[in-house]
Amino acid sequence: MTRIVRRGLPRVPGGEPWPPAREVVSAVDDARFGAAAPVTAAVVIEEAPAPSVPTPATVVLSEVPLRRGLPRVEGGEPWPAEGFAPARFGVPAEVVTTAAAPAEAPAAIEAPAVAFSDVPLRRGLPRVEGGEPWPPAGFAPAWAVVVAPDSAPEAVAPEAEPVTALAEAPASSPAPDPIPTPRRMGRGGRIAVALIALLAVVAAVVLVARWLVTLDGVQGFLADYPGTYALPEDAPVGIPAWLSWQHFFNVFLIVLIARTGLMVRRQQRPEAYWAPRSDPKDRSSLMSWTHQALDIFWVVNGAVYLVLLFATGQWMRIVPTSWDVFPNAVSAVLQYLSLDFPAHDSWAYYNSLQQIFYFLAVFVAAPLAIATGVRMSMYWRGGARWDRVYPKSVARALHFPVMIYFVAFVVGHVALVLTTGARANLQHMYAASDGGGWLGVVMFVISLVVIAGASFALRPLFLAPVAGRFGSVTSR
Ligand code: HEM
Ligand code: HEM
Repeated sequence: MTRIVRRGLPRVPGGEPWPPAREVVSAVDDARFGAAAPVTAAVVIEEAPAPSVPTPATVVLSEVPLRRGLPRVEGGEPWPAEGFAPARFGVPAEVVTTAAAPAEAPAAIEAPAVAFSDVPLRRGLPRVEGGEPWPPAGFAPAWAVVVAPDSAPEAVAPEAEPVTALAEAPASSPAPDPIPTPRRMGRGGRIAVALIALLAVVAAVVLVARWLVTLDGVQGFLADYPGTYALPEDAPVGIPAWLSWQHFFNVFLIVLIARTGLMVRRQQRPEAYWAPRSDPKDRSSLMSWTHQALDIFWVVNGAVYLVLLFATGQWMRIVPTSWDVFPNAVSAVLQYLSLDFPAHDSWAYYNSLQQIFYFLAVFVAAPLAIATGVRMSMYWRGGARWDRVYPKSVARALHFPVMIYFVAFVVGHVALVLTTGARANLQHMYAASDGGGWLGVVMFVISLVVIAGASFALRPLFLAPVAGRFGSVTSR
């Protein structure tokens, strides 16, 4: 049965894919290859012009084994065949026995001669550690060169003047063709594959969840724990206007904080610096100053929120008040995953999953961001004795994952807000109203425009005049 050689990029400009199309006789009878596979028009090796150089070349081999790579035919042996690198491949002198020392030279190998074109070979990575590029400098075999129709006869003619002869591994092994450059998948291709894989995983998870909710035991569980437990009797109903504003300021600030934080992280050389007038040497980058200035607003906003949350009893909506929160959260996850969303009335209560995540955002992630951020900041006055107890490196190592957490939370949060009755949810949180209408949606869109505008202004042109009021801004 014959097999088709897998082909890669051409080895000469404008040439044919490499190695040339050819058939290889295979001992294995494999129906996937063979008759059904198209043999392309190019040269079939068995029909290649007979070698026109009668004198075989002699090559001295080193003792360095050849590095072997992927097979050249489906299911074949690693390529190239087991053997030793030619001595001239830059192998350390002591390992190589050169032609000048014939007594110690390992076996010299006879190689058949091949007709060459005058097109230089494109060379790639070396085949032995520290060696020269592969293949060695030389010319492409005449049969590998695509010729313009008018000059075709000379270039492919077996009589073409032989330039040199290629060294070959022992007669039994195939010719040492250069390894084709592996074809890399483009960025778009990789994204497409990742998206398809993600979709497949999501689909599988949804199917499993849908199957689970049909089981008797699970149905009993869902009946006992519908996803929500009763809030304390005196829990308030509805979202007050102050909470709407707090939520908006929080979103506004956290977007700018995350952006400036990422800019600080990425910046190699800051465009500008800020330093207090009292100590011009104690400078930070302008972006770091902006990040920390925004943090002050964020902390103040959070403090006001907490005071009002506890003053109004609103805290009962986001602080779990019963252990039932856990089985109910599991139940809510199952219901979301089976795409049969849990009964939901965010005006009156949040479900247990929401409650847990809002609690984590307000009472765990935010304090962590503050505790780690303050340690790194210019406001830190802890002195050297803190270096062992709470080193800055620990703060930095935690601060970034906290940002990742916030980003992940917001992606999930906003996705659910928009897929579980977007208009009503936005009306609750952005218009502090339980009525119908589109005010919430309008306010939400306006808030996005404001946030985008502020994000755009995060550049030295706009920041320097502000920062300059609180210290000195310099460009170095
Ligand atoms: C009060 C709260 C916070 C304070 C005091 C604070 C403070 C800081 C400080 C001092 C730095 C180092 C800047 C520098 O290297 O010059 C920093 C970096 C950073 N911050 Fe914050 N931050 C706070 C909250 C946040 C929040 C909420 C986020 C994200 C949502 C965030 C994201 C980042 C990021 C991504 C970096 C870069 C981290 C890195 O270089 O590894 N920060 N922050
Ligand atoms: C564009 C982004 C956002 C939108 C559209 C949005 C929308 C909402 C909505 C509609 C609610 C009410 C719950 C519901 O109806 O299910 C809510 C509650 C909440 N959101 Fe967001 N949110 C956004 C970003 C954020 C961010 C960045 C955070 C914090 C990092 C956050 C934290 C919270 C918290 C803690 C609650 C509960 C507040 C309470 O009742 O005390 N949200 N959000």
